[in-house]
Amino acid sequence: MGIDQGKVIVTGGAGFIGSHTVVELALAGYTPVIIDDFSNAERSVLDGLASILGREVPCHAVDCNDGERLNELFAAEGPIRGVIHFAAFKSVGESVHSPLKYYRNNVGSLTTLLEVMKAHDVWDLVFSSSCTVYGQPDTLPVTEDTPMKEAESPYGRTKQICEELIGDVVKAEHPVRAAVLRYFNPIGAHPSSEIGELPIGTPDNLIPFITQTAAGIRDELIVFGDSYATADGSCIRDYIHVVDLAKAHVKALDWLARKEKRPAQEIFNIGTGSGASVLEVIEAFERASQQRLAYRIGPRREGDIEQIYANADKAEQVLNWKADCGLEEAMRDAWNWQVALDRKSKPVD
Ligand code: WQD
Repeated sequence: MGIDQGKVIVTGGAGFIGSHTVVELALAGYTPVIIDDFSNAERSVLDGLASILGREVPCHAVDCNDGERLNELFAAEGPIRGVIHFAAFKSVGESVHSPLKYYRNNVGSLTTLLEVMKAHDVWDLVFSSSCTVYGQPDTLPVTEDTPMKEAESPYGRTKQICEELIGDVVKAEHPVRAAVLRYFNPIGAHPSSEIGELPIGTPDNLIPFITQTAAGIRDELIVFGDSYATADGSCIRDYIHVVDLAKAHVKALDWLARKEKRPAQEIFNIGTGSGASVLEVIEAFERASQQRLAYRIGPRREGDIEQIYANADKAEQVLNWKADCGLEEAMRDAWNWQVALDRKSKPVD
């Protein structure tokens, strides 16, 4: 057993990225404690974590907007080394129809969390942000200095506001040390197929829609447009394996602990540094899964930007982190996870 790196609160730790980060924290010698209200995650994730780690991960079913309960938890779980804050709603489409729900939860929970952290002298925070804050950038790849544009949705605006909220807390001289990670497109699943993406209802995102189509759950994938100004006409994104993304959070926590200067806020692009088009993703999936994918070209999706991918040099230089997994490996893990899910859901004959 390595040295104990201390206890880390992982809000939203039963979610897609949160659960994969819990694994990497434990493997790195941290003691993760999950806080999740299970509004967008299933309790079965805890079984998957237990089977990967060989032990139960402590979990409290609490809403991060509940300051009183959060206070009690921080008192009971202390001393706490740091917090990774994933808990937020993340559907671009839903945020357009229910903006107040997104402001209340995404901005409200961060505010409550920071108040409770201050009350308990917990100052290291890794915050889950998104490349959505950039909008459609004028130049590519995007660096951390690429100016934010008008957000394309209330979801994106809540991420912009949260980043600025942390900045104001830092300016107010609270000794907080914050690493803000701007994710590009998280995809794939844990290679064990014990945890992965669990979209509730019809998936918004590309990869779960692809794997559900290949599994026969969906009839066909609609490619939202092929007349963009890209090589094959379909949109380009920076797809990053969720395990690589999870490892970036551990590196960020390590880095915060080494950073003497307080208060501090640093922003990092967490992407692979290269873009892939929707049609290239389909090809990579077919190669990785040996499955033909039923798809057709349809109309553009409102709010989609044409292309975005990261310059992730700062994370490499400062955090000593770089994405290792390629697109095909992520497709293989996503497909294996879908097969495992379907096997679990089919009654044993
Ligand atoms: C990717 C590409 C679609 C579905 C969003 C959020 C971002 C993050 C990830 C939270 C696009 C195309 C998709 C389909 C398709 N979420 N597509 N057919 O929109 O890049 O990012 O999810 O952090 O913040 O903005 O991801 O997977 O929805 O779409 O053609 O059925 O796949 O047009 O080009 P997106 P996505």
